[in-house]
Amino acid sequence: VRDETLWWEGDHLFLIDQTVLPARYETVECTTVERLAQAIRRLEVRGAPALGVAGAYGIALATRTCRNTHFPEFLAELQSQADLLRATRPTAVNLSWGIDRVMARVSRAGGVEEAREIALEEARLIAREDEETCRAIGAVGASLLPDPCTVLTHCNAGALACTRWGTALGVVRSAIAEGKEIQVIACETRPLLQGARLTAWELIRDGISVTVVPDSAAASLMRRNEIDVVLVGADRITEDALFNKIGTYSHAVTARYHEVPFYTAAPLSTFDPHRKEGEVTIEERGEEELRQCGERQIVPDGAAVFNPAFDATPLSLVTGIITERGVFFPPLEMARILSAQPPL
Ligand code: MRU
Repeated sequence: VRDETLWWEGDHLFLIDQTVLPARYETVECTTVERLAQAIRRLEVRGAPALGVAGAYGIALATRTCRNTHFPEFLAELQSQADLLRATRPTAVNLSWGIDRVMARVSRAGGVEEAREIALEEARLIAREDEETCRAIGAVGASLLPDPCTVLTHCNAGALACTRWGTALGVVRSAIAEGKEIQVIACETRPLLQGARLTAWELIRDGISVTVVPDSAAASLMRRNEIDVVLVGADRITEDALFNKIGTYSHAVTARYHEVPFYTAAPLSTFDPHRKEGEVTIEERGEEELRQCGERQIVPDGAAVFNPAFDATPLSLVTGIITERGVFFPPLEMARILSAQPPL
């Protein structure tokens, strides 16, 4: 069992297949961008930072499969592979960020061979930086958690959503490494159960105390003072909203009502200074995710279903945003945040 979510080996990209956890641990080998695009659509690899790294390695993969030897045509072929990857999931901004970072370097290469080397070098750097960033987020966020502390989280913003360590769960890991007593309440996260399946799996693997609850239990737990902090990840942060897994908004509203601090943890690569809430596409996923639970039909034929994958939480409900450069408190000044220096 690897402790990395995705890695490059030989000349291919490998990833942990997150659709079969926790029943089975299996890996997927992606030899083409088409296979990687399928893996992203099926959520074999998922979570904003991991999608950034996957996008970056995807371009490295494309430099190996593009057949044009003349550089301008090679770049055009690469661009269409980049567009294919980018279209797989619209909400997490990190996917485009990772693709664009590698494309920007590759387009300045002297030729095809150099482009192949540079693409892999940049993708590897992005993967390495991802772990360093998560550890920095962890160190920043750990000081915010009381000791002892019960953290409620939603979806999976852990090692499986990044290369290693995690964002929200990285904060938990760092606080525990500092000696704090932290336990996690993982909301199961309907309909694909990233909280129940993935958050619980990776916390148990690390010996961290975790209790899985139905999403609908969060409010009554907060009412009974059993939650000290709500801590989630982010797929995109605009000047006015936090985009994260559907259900995040209800936790934020509930946390405000019960005066529980609500934090999100995310790298600066998740910030989008170019768009406002209304300009962001919220991914809608297939009906079958709601109509069936495994093999079993759970919605009668004839009933309509609506399956948005994410929601937007106004930043006025967010206590603070934990980043690798410190904690930012809304209202946000994007330009100042994106030029912030590392904390001393
Ligand atoms: O649909 P998913 O599983 O990709 O959704 C993931 C989330 O909502 C995570 O909370 C988010 O990407 C942050 S991961 C550090």
